[in-house]
Amino acid sequence: MAKTVAIGVTGSIAVYKIVDLVSKLKKDDIEVVVMMTEGATKFVSPLTFKTISGREVLTDLWQESQEWKVQHIGIAEQIDFLLIAPATANFIAKMAHGIADDFLSTVVLANTAPCLIVPAMNSNMYKNSVVQDNIKKLIDYGYKFMDPDSGLLACGVIGQGRLPEIDDIYTQVNRLLFPKKDLLGKRLMVNAGTTCEDIDPVRFIANRGTGKMGYCIAQEAIARGAEVILVSGKSHLEPPAGVKFESVWGAEEMCRVMLDYQSSCDIIIGAAAVGDFRIVNIAEEKIKKMDGHSEKMILELAENPDILKTLGTMKRSHQIMVGFAAETQNVLENARIKLSKKNLDFIVANDVTAEGAGFACDTNIVTLIGRDGKIKSLPKMSKEDVAAAIIDRVVELIKS
Ligand code: PMT
Repeated sequence: MAKTVAIGVTGSIAVYKIVDLVSKLKKDDIEVVVMMTEGATKFVSPLTFKTISGREVLTDLWQESQEWKVQHIGIAEQIDFLLIAPATANFIAKMAHGIADDFLSTVVLANTAPCLIVPAMNSNMYKNSVVQDNIKKLIDYGYKFMDPDSGLLACGVIGQGRLPEIDDIYTQVNRLLFPKKDLLGKRLMVNAGTTCEDIDPVRFIANRGTGKMGYCIAQEAIARGAEVILVSGKSHLEPPAGVKFESVWGAEEMCRVMLDYQSSCDIIIGAAAVGDFRIVNIAEEKIKKMDGHSEKMILELAENPDILKTLGTMKRSHQIMVGFAAETQNVLENARIKLSKKNLDFIVANDVTAEGAGFACDTNIVTLIGRDGKIKSLPKMSKEDVAAAIIDRVVELIKS
Protein backbone atom coordinates (compact mmCIF):
# COMPACT_ATOMS: atom_id res chain seq x y z
CA MET A 1 0.00 0.00 0.00
CA ALA A 2 1.24 3.50 -0.84
CA LYS A 3 2.75 5.36 2.09
CA THR A 4 1.44 8.73 3.22
CA VAL A 5 3.87 11.44 4.24
CA ALA A 6 2.68 14.64 5.88
CA ILE A 7 4.93 17.66 5.47
CA GLY A 8 4.57 20.49 7.96
CA VAL A 9 5.94 23.65 6.40
CA THR A 10 6.71 26.57 8.72
CA GLY A 11 7.61 30.19 8.01
CA SER A 12 11.13 30.35 6.66
CA ILE A 13 12.51 31.66 3.38
CA ALA A 14 13.47 28.04 2.58
CA VAL A 15 9.78 27.10 2.13
CA TYR A 16 10.07 27.28 -1.66
CA LYS A 17 12.61 24.43 -1.69
CA ILE A 18 10.03 22.06 -0.23
CA VAL A 19 8.00 22.27 -3.45
CA ASP A 20 10.73 20.22 -5.14
CA LEU A 21 10.68 17.67 -2.30
CA VAL A 22 6.91 17.21 -2.64
CA SER A 23 7.36 16.65 -6.36
CA LYS A 24 10.11 14.04 -5.80
CA LEU A 25 8.01 12.11 -3.27
CA LYS A 26 4.96 12.19 -5.55
CA LYS A 27 7.06 10.68 -8.37
CA ASP A 28 7.70 7.72 -6.03
CA ASP A 29 3.91 7.28 -5.66
CA ILE A 30 3.98 8.54 -2.12
CA GLU A 31 0.85 10.33 -0.99
CA VAL A 32 1.86 13.76 0.31
CA VAL A 33 -0.24 15.90 2.63
CA VAL A 34 1.07 19.44 3.00
CA MET A 35 0.23 21.48 6.09
CA MET A 36 1.36 25.08 6.35
CA THR A 37 1.59 27.51 9.22
CA GLU A 38 0.33 31.00 8.58
CA GLY A 39 3.94 32.22 8.36
CA ALA A 40 4.77 29.67 5.67
CA THR A 41 1.88 30.89 3.50
CA LYS A 42 3.53 34.34 3.39
CA PHE A 43 6.47 32.83 1.47
CA VAL A 44 4.74 30.39 -0.89
CA SER A 45 1.06 30.19 -1.74
CA PRO A 46 -0.83 27.05 -0.63
CA LEU A 47 -1.98 26.84 -4.26
CA THR A 48 1.58 25.93 -5.34
CA PHE A 49 1.68 23.01 -2.91
CA LYS A 50 -1.90 22.00 -3.78
CA THR A 51 -0.98 21.82 -7.47
CA ILE A 52 2.17 19.77 -6.86
CA SER A 53 0.73 17.44 -4.20
CA GLY A 54 -2.69 17.06 -5.83
CA ARG A 55 -4.34 17.53 -2.43
CA GLU A 56 -5.91 20.30 -0.43
CA VAL A 57 -3.27 22.09 1.65
CA LEU A 58 -4.18 22.28 5.32
CA THR A 59 -3.62 25.61 7.00
CA ASP A 60 -6.60 26.35 9.19
CA LEU A 61 -7.62 24.52 12.34
CA TRP A 62 -11.22 25.60 11.77
CA GLN A 63 -11.56 24.88 8.05
CA GLU A 64 -14.63 22.86 6.98
CA SER A 65 -13.98 19.25 6.02
CA GLN A 66 -16.03 16.51 4.25
CA GLU A 67 -14.88 13.98 6.82
CA TRP A 68 -16.88 13.37 9.99
CA LYS A 69 -13.72 13.22 12.06
CA VAL A 70 -11.97 16.27 13.43
CA GLN A 71 -9.54 16.90 10.61
CA HIS A 72 -6.25 17.20 12.52
CA ILE A 73 -6.94 13.90 14.30
CA GLY A 74 -7.94 12.22 11.03
CA ILE A 75 -4.71 13.34 9.33
CA ALA A 76 -2.57 12.23 12.27
CA GLU A 77 -4.14 8.76 12.08
CA GLN A 78 -3.60 8.41 8.31
CA ILE A 79 0.06 9.27 8.00
CA ASP A 80 3.08 6.96 8.00
CA PHE A 81 5.60 9.73 8.48
CA LEU A 82 5.69 13.36 9.53
CA LEU A 83 8.32 15.77 8.24
CA ILE A 84 8.62 19.29 9.62
CA ALA A 85 10.69 21.27 7.09
CA PRO A 86 11.74 23.98 7.23
CA ALA A 87 11.28 24.10 11.00
CA THR A 88 11.57 27.58 12.51
CA ALA A 89 12.84 28.29 16.03
CA ASN A 90 9.31 29.28 16.97
CA PHE A 91 7.75 26.05 15.75
CA ILE A 92 10.45 23.94 17.42
CA ALA A 93 9.72 25.80 20.68
CA LYS A 94 6.00 25.08 20.29
CA MET A 95 6.70 21.39 19.69
CA ALA A 96 9.03 21.19 22.69
CA HIS A 97 6.36 22.67 24.97
CA GLY A 98 3.28 20.93 23.62
CA ILE A 99 1.63 24.09 22.34
CA ALA A 100 -1.20 23.29 19.94
CA ASP A 101 -2.68 26.51 18.60
CA ASP A 102 -2.85 25.96 14.84
CA PHE A 103 -3.50 23.11 12.42
CA LEU A 104 0.08 21.87 12.18
CA SER A 105 0.84 21.98 15.91
CA THR A 106 -2.35 20.05 16.72
CA VAL A 107 -1.39 17.35 14.17
CA VAL A 108 2.07 17.18 15.76
CA LEU A 109 0.54 16.45 19.17
CA ALA A 110 -1.88 13.86 17.83
CA ASN A 111 0.74 12.19 15.64
CA THR A 112 2.23 8.79 16.52
CA ALA A 113 4.20 8.20 13.29
CA PRO A 114 7.99 8.77 13.14
CA CYS A 115 8.81 12.46 12.81
CA LEU A 116 11.84 14.17 11.27
CA ILE A 117 12.50 17.84 11.97
CA VAL A 118 14.72 19.91 9.68
CA PRO A 119 15.54 23.31 11.20
CA ALA A 120 16.36 26.34 9.04
CA MET A 121 17.06 29.74 10.56
CA ASN A 122 19.69 32.39 11.23
CA SER A 123 22.86 30.84 12.69
CA ASN A 124 22.75 32.84 15.94
CA MET A 125 19.16 31.77 16.45
CA TYR A 126 20.16 28.16 15.78
CA LYS A 127 23.06 28.34 18.24
CA ASN A 128 20.95 30.06 20.91
CA SER A 129 20.88 27.88 24.03
CA VAL A 130 17.09 28.12 24.23
CA VAL A 131 16.74 26.68 20.71
CA GLN A 132 19.38 24.03 21.42
CA ASP A 133 17.63 23.06 24.68
CA ASN A 134 14.34 22.70 22.81
CA ILE A 135 16.03 20.51 20.18
CA LYS A 136 17.62 18.37 22.89
CA LYS A 137 14.26 17.99 24.61
CA LEU A 138 12.62 16.84 21.37
CA ILE A 139 15.47 14.39 20.67
CA ASP A 140 14.90 12.95 24.15
CA TYR A 141 11.21 12.53 23.25
CA GLY A 142 12.29 10.48 20.21
CA TYR A 143 12.06 13.06 17.42
CA LYS A 144 14.72 12.82 14.71
CA PHE A 145 16.61 15.90 13.54
CA MET A 146 18.73 16.78 10.53
CA ASP A 147 21.46 19.35 11.20
CA PRO A 148 21.17 22.50 9.10
CA ASP A 149 23.91 23.08 6.52
CA SER A 150 26.49 25.83 6.84
CA GLY A 151 26.99 28.56 4.28
CA LEU A 152 25.64 31.92 3.23
CA LEU A 153 22.21 32.40 4.80
CA ALA A 154 19.35 34.45 3.37
CA CYS A 155 19.99 37.07 6.08
CA GLY A 156 23.47 37.65 4.62
CA VAL A 157 25.29 35.92 7.49
CA ILE A 158 27.66 33.00 6.92
CA GLY A 159 27.03 30.23 9.40
CA GLN A 160 25.00 27.13 10.21
CA GLY A 161 21.29 27.43 9.56
CA ARG A 162 20.60 26.64 5.89
CA LEU A 163 18.04 24.02 4.98
CA PRO A 164 20.03 20.93 3.92
CA GLU A 165 19.96 19.98 0.20
CA ILE A 166 16.57 18.62 -0.84
CA ASP A 167 18.25 15.42 -2.10
CA ASP A 168 19.64 14.85 1.40
CA ILE A 169 16.24 15.41 3.02
CA TYR A 170 14.67 13.09 0.42
CA THR A 171 17.24 10.37 1.20
CA GLN A 172 16.68 10.75 4.93
CA VAL A 173 12.89 10.59 4.57
CA ASN A 174 13.21 7.41 2.50
CA ARG A 175 15.59 5.89 4.98
CA LEU A 176 13.18 6.50 7.85
CA LEU A 177 10.04 5.66 5.88
CA PHE A 178 11.37 2.37 4.51
CA PRO A 179 13.87 1.31 7.18
CA LYS A 180 16.02 -1.66 6.26
CA LYS A 181 16.24 -4.07 9.18
CA ASP A 182 19.23 -5.95 7.89
CA LEU A 183 21.16 -5.84 11.18
CA LEU A 184 18.44 -7.44 13.27
CA GLY A 185 19.94 -9.82 15.81
CA LYS A 186 23.44 -8.33 15.41
CA ARG A 187 25.42 -6.59 18.13
CA LEU A 188 27.56 -3.71 16.92
CA MET A 189 30.08 -1.70 18.91
CA VAL A 190 31.39 1.61 17.59
CA ASN A 191 33.73 4.09 19.20
CA ALA A 192 33.61 7.82 18.55
CA GLY A 193 34.84 11.24 19.64
CA THR A 194 38.25 12.22 20.89
CA THR A 195 40.11 10.56 23.72
CA CYS A 196 41.62 12.92 26.31
CA GLU A 197 44.90 12.51 28.13
CA ASP A 198 45.32 14.39 31.39
CA ILE A 199 48.34 16.61 31.95
CA ASP A 200 47.26 17.88 35.37
CA PRO A 201 43.88 18.35 37.11
CA VAL A 202 42.86 21.15 34.70
CA ARG A 203 44.60 20.41 31.41
CA PHE A 204 44.49 17.59 28.93
CA ILE A 205 45.54 16.69 25.40
CA ALA A 206 42.75 15.94 22.94
CA ASN A 207 42.23 16.26 19.18
CA ARG A 208 39.71 17.58 16.68
CA GLY A 209 37.37 14.56 16.66
CA THR A 210 33.80 15.62 17.50
CA GLY A 211 32.15 12.20 17.40
CA LYS A 212 29.83 13.09 14.52
CA MET A 213 31.05 10.26 12.25
CA GLY A 214 30.82 7.58 14.94
CA TYR A 215 27.47 8.81 16.26
CA CYS A 216 26.04 8.68 12.71
CA ILE A 217 27.21 5.06 12.46
CA ALA A 218 25.54 4.26 15.79
CA GLN A 219 22.34 5.96 14.62
CA GLU A 220 22.31 4.08 11.31
CA ALA A 221 22.98 0.73 12.98
CA ILE A 222 20.15 1.27 15.49
CA ALA A 223 17.78 2.20 12.65
CA ARG A 224 18.72 -1.02 10.86
CA GLY A 225 17.88 -3.20 13.84
CA ALA A 226 21.25 -3.74 15.53
CA GLU A 227 21.86 -3.68 19.23
CA VAL A 228 24.41 -0.88 19.50
CA ILE A 229 27.10 -0.07 22.04
CA LEU A 230 28.52 3.41 21.55
CA VAL A 231 31.82 3.93 23.36
CA SER A 232 32.46 7.63 23.23
CA GLY A 233 35.32 9.86 24.17
CA LYS A 234 34.68 13.57 24.58
CA SER A 235 31.85 14.81 22.35
CA HIS A 236 29.15 17.45 22.69
CA LEU A 237 26.66 15.27 20.79
CA GLU A 238 23.59 13.56 22.21
CA PRO A 239 23.85 9.77 21.99
CA PRO A 240 21.21 8.39 19.61
CA ALA A 241 18.14 7.00 21.38
CA GLY A 242 18.33 3.29 22.01
CA VAL A 243 22.13 2.84 22.12
CA LYS A 244 23.97 1.48 25.12
CA PHE A 245 26.19 4.44 25.87
CA GLU A 246 29.62 4.17 27.47
CA SER A 247 31.31 7.48 28.13
CA VAL A 248 35.09 7.30 28.48
CA TRP A 249 37.96 9.76 28.86
CA GLY A 250 41.38 8.39 27.87
CA ALA A 251 42.51 5.78 25.34
CA GLU A 252 43.35 3.21 28.02
CA GLU A 253 39.82 3.45 29.47
CA MET A 254 38.31 3.24 25.96
CA CYS A 255 40.37 0.12 25.32
CA ARG A 256 39.30 -1.50 28.62
CA VAL A 257 35.61 -0.86 27.97
CA MET A 258 35.80 -2.18 24.41
CA LEU A 259 37.65 -5.29 25.55
CA ASP A 260 34.78 -6.00 27.96
CA TYR A 261 32.30 -6.10 25.07
CA GLN A 262 34.61 -7.53 22.40
CA SER A 263 33.64 -11.19 22.58
CA SER A 264 29.89 -10.50 22.45
CA CYS A 265 29.96 -8.29 19.35
CA ASP A 266 29.33 -9.30 15.76
CA ILE A 267 30.60 -6.00 14.36
CA ILE A 268 33.23 -3.59 15.73
CA ILE A 269 33.84 -0.20 14.13
CA GLY A 270 36.60 2.21 15.17
CA ALA A 271 35.61 5.75 14.24
CA ALA A 272 37.12 7.45 17.29
CA ALA A 273 40.09 9.72 17.02
CA VAL A 274 42.20 7.87 19.55
CA GLY A 275 45.20 9.72 20.96
CA ASP A 276 48.37 7.75 20.24
CA PHE A 277 50.16 9.07 23.34
CA ARG A 278 49.44 9.77 26.98
CA ILE A 279 51.32 11.72 29.65
CA VAL A 280 53.74 9.59 31.68
CA ASN A 281 53.49 11.49 34.97
CA ILE A 282 50.17 13.28 35.39
CA ALA A 283 50.75 16.15 37.82
CA GLU A 284 48.61 15.92 40.94
CA GLU A 285 48.40 19.70 41.26
CA LYS A 286 47.91 22.31 38.57
CA ILE A 287 51.29 22.97 36.92
CA LYS A 288 52.35 26.54 37.61
CA LYS A 289 53.51 28.97 34.94
CA MET A 290 57.25 29.25 34.69
CA ASP A 291 57.28 33.06 34.49
CA GLY A 292 60.29 32.95 32.22
CA HIS A 293 62.42 30.89 34.65
CA SER A 294 62.83 28.05 32.19
CA GLU A 295 62.99 27.89 28.40
CA LYS A 296 60.80 24.89 27.87
CA MET A 297 58.08 22.87 29.44
CA ILE A 298 58.69 19.22 28.61
CA LEU A 299 55.97 16.60 28.76
CA GLU A 300 57.04 12.98 28.67
CA LEU A 301 54.72 10.84 26.57
CA ALA A 302 54.13 7.10 26.45
CA GLU A 303 52.42 5.23 23.64
CA ASN A 304 48.75 4.36 24.15
CA PRO A 305 47.42 0.91 23.32
CA ASP A 306 46.29 0.57 19.73
CA ILE A 307 42.69 -0.38 20.49
CA LEU A 308 41.71 -1.81 17.12
CA LYS A 309 44.98 -3.70 16.80
CA THR A 310 44.42 -5.22 20.24
CA LEU A 311 40.84 -6.21 19.35
CA GLY A 312 42.10 -7.45 15.97
CA THR A 313 44.37 -10.02 17.65
CA MET A 314 41.36 -11.62 19.34
CA LYS A 315 38.97 -11.33 16.38
CA ARG A 316 36.47 -14.18 16.24
CA SER A 317 35.72 -15.94 12.98
CA HIS A 318 32.23 -14.48 12.58
CA GLN A 319 33.28 -10.97 13.62
CA ILE A 320 33.52 -8.06 11.21
CA MET A 321 35.96 -5.32 12.09
CA VAL A 322 36.13 -1.92 10.44
CA GLY A 323 38.57 0.91 11.04
CA PHE A 324 39.09 4.42 9.80
CA ALA A 325 42.32 5.90 8.53
CA ALA A 326 42.67 9.63 9.12
CA GLU A 327 45.41 10.57 6.69
CA THR A 328 47.07 13.75 5.50
CA GLN A 329 49.24 12.17 2.78
CA ASN A 330 49.52 8.90 0.78
CA VAL A 331 45.98 8.21 1.87
CA LEU A 332 45.32 4.84 0.22
CA GLU A 333 48.80 3.45 0.81
CA ASN A 334 48.78 4.31 4.54
CA ALA A 335 45.20 3.07 4.92
CA ARG A 336 46.13 -0.30 3.41
CA ILE A 337 48.96 -0.68 5.93
CA LYS A 338 46.54 0.00 8.83
CA LEU A 339 43.97 -2.41 7.34
CA SER A 340 46.43 -5.24 7.46
CA LYS A 341 48.19 -4.35 10.76
CA LYS A 342 44.86 -4.16 12.62
CA ASN A 343 43.40 -7.31 11.04
CA LEU A 344 40.37 -5.42 9.68
CA ASP A 345 37.81 -6.50 7.09
CA PHE A 346 37.77 -3.06 5.57
CA ILE A 347 39.04 0.40 6.31
CA VAL A 348 37.45 3.77 5.66
CA ALA A 349 40.16 6.12 4.43
CA ASN A 350 39.58 9.83 4.78
CA ASP A 351 41.95 12.59 3.77
CA VAL A 352 41.41 14.86 6.75
CA THR A 353 42.99 17.83 4.96
CA ALA A 354 40.37 17.83 2.18
CA GLU A 355 37.61 20.44 2.41
CA GLY A 356 34.35 18.84 3.56
CA ALA A 357 36.13 15.76 4.91
CA GLY A 358 37.39 14.47 8.23
CA PHE A 359 37.11 16.23 11.56
CA ALA A 360 34.31 18.48 12.79
CA CYS A 361 32.27 18.85 9.61
CA ASP A 362 28.91 17.43 8.59
CA THR A 363 30.27 15.76 5.45
CA ASN A 364 33.05 13.33 4.65
CA ILE A 365 34.86 12.06 1.57
CA VAL A 366 35.93 8.47 2.01
CA THR A 367 37.27 5.44 0.20
CA LEU A 368 36.35 1.98 1.45
CA ILE A 369 39.24 -0.44 1.05
CA GLY A 370 38.51 -4.12 1.61
CA ARG A 371 40.80 -6.88 2.81
CA ASP A 372 39.75 -8.54 -0.48
CA GLY A 373 41.28 -5.60 -2.38
CA LYS A 374 37.90 -4.14 -3.28
CA ILE A 375 37.99 -0.34 -3.40
CA LYS A 376 35.03 2.01 -3.46
CA SER A 377 35.58 5.77 -3.57
CA LEU A 378 32.57 7.78 -2.49
CA PRO A 379 31.90 11.42 -3.38
CA LYS A 380 31.43 14.10 -0.73
CA MET A 381 28.44 12.95 1.31
CA SER A 382 26.75 13.81 4.58
CA LYS A 383 28.17 11.75 7.44
CA GLU A 384 24.72 10.13 7.73
CA ASP A 385 25.09 8.84 4.15
CA VAL A 386 28.69 7.73 4.73
CA ALA A 387 27.45 5.79 7.77
CA ALA A 388 24.77 4.13 5.61
CA ALA A 389 27.38 3.17 2.99
CA ILE A 390 29.61 1.65 5.69
CA ILE A 391 26.72 -0.37 7.11
CA ASP A 392 25.76 -1.47 3.55
CA ARG A 393 29.29 -2.86 3.14
CA VAL A 394 29.12 -4.60 6.54
CA VAL A 395 25.82 -6.23 5.53
CA GLU A 396 27.35 -7.36 2.20
CA LEU A 397 30.17 -9.03 4.14
CA ILE A 398 27.75 -10.72 6.56
CA LYS A 399 25.82 -12.13 3.59
CA SER A 400 28.92 -13.24 1.63
O1 PMT B 1 34.41 12.75 14.88
P1 PMT B 1 34.36 13.64 13.63
O2 PMT B 1 34.61 15.09 13.94
O3 PMT B 1 33.11 13.39 12.84
O4 PMT B 1 35.58 13.21 12.68
C1 PMT B 1 35.60 11.96 12.07
C2 PMT B 1 37.02 11.33 12.09
C3 PMT B 1 37.93 12.16 11.21
C4 PMT B 1 37.56 11.29 13.51
C5 PMT B 1 36.86 9.88 11.53
O5 PMT B 1 36.33 9.95 10.25
C6 PMT B 1 38.20 9.16 11.55
O6 PMT B 1 39.00 9.23 10.62
N1 PMT B 1 38.49 8.40 12.65
C7 PMT B 1 39.76 7.75 12.90
C8 PMT B 1 40.74 8.72 13.48
C9 PMT B 1 42.08 8.05 13.75
O7 PMT B 1 42.46 7.92 14.90
O8 PMT B 1 42.67 7.60 12.66
P2 PMT B 1 44.12 6.83 12.65
O9 PMT B 1 44.46 6.73 11.22
O10 PMT B 1 45.07 7.52 13.57
O11 PMT B 1 43.82 5.39 13.24
C10 PMT B 1 43.44 4.29 12.43
C11 PMT B 1 42.37 3.45 13.13
O12 PMT B 1 42.90 2.89 14.34
C12 PMT B 1 41.12 4.24 13.51
O13 PMT B 1 40.01 3.42 13.31
C13 PMT B 1 41.34 4.52 15.00
O14 PMT B 1 40.09 4.61 15.70
C14 PMT B 1 42.13 3.30 15.45
N2 PMT B 1 43.09 3.56 16.55
C15 PMT B 1 44.04 4.52 16.42
C16 PMT B 1 44.96 4.73 17.44
C17 PMT B 1 44.85 3.93 18.61
N3 PMT B 1 45.69 4.11 19.62
N4 PMT B 1 43.90 3.00 18.70
C18 PMT B 1 43.01 2.80 17.69
O15 PMT B 1 42.13 1.94 17.78
